[in-house]
Amino acid sequence: MVRVAREKCSELKNVVVKKENMLRMKHNNKFNVVLSINSLLMPSFKEIKRAVKNINNSLKEDGICFIIVPSMESLLYHGLLLLDSELKKTRENTAKRRVKEKLGLKKMDFLFGYFREGKYKQKFYYLHELRYLLKKAGFKNISISKVEYSWKSDSDIGDYERFPKEEKLWDWFVRATK
Ligand SMILES: C[S@@+](CC[C@H](N)C(=O)[O-])C[C@H]1O[C@@H](n2cnc3c(N)ncnc32)[C@H](O)[C@@H]1O
Repeated sequence: MVRVAREKCSELKNVVVKKENMLRMKHNNKFNVVLSINSLLMPSFKEIKRAVKNINNSLKEDGICFIIVPSMESLLYHGLLLLDSELKKTRENTAKRRVKEKLGLKKMDFLFGYFREGKYKQKFYYLHELRYLLKKAGFKNISISKVEYSWKSDSDIGDYERFPKEEKLWDWFVRATK
């Protein structure tokens, strides 16, 4: 990603591409805009708080940030679609068991919102949690909407089972100012 960004910006004189760790970066009142696209994925709540605070610090007064993160509610909604679909094929207890298997329930922590596979852990966000984190980090004018993913096979929803007639799955899209 960094290499591609450098290539794409190579002819722009006022663009510098740097690779930094959000947990350790120390920029103060420096940027008009900050984007974080599916990068706040660390499962540690303490680390997320630090990263969001560092993003806030890095913005100028009235600077704006745009953040996209995975949605926990979208995952739960997908569970609902799976259940309704399974109920057409089998009785309720079996349907519920199948949904738990399909969702990889043993790999999910629904309280703290993350997915675990071996050593890999990835954070998913509840709406209330996202609002809380942004407010605590000092953000104002917080607006959170959905960025929806197409059910089409070439879209970003990977190997999620598809329900093209239903409302789409989504990530959370944040717009907030300092
Ligand atoms: C799922 S990828 C998303 C990449 C790209 N933004 C996109 O949307 O295609 C997650 C990215 O977050 C970055 N990342 C994870 N932890 C980070 C941290 N502490 N500081 C900076 N970047 C981090 C990873 O290097 C990786 O590039």
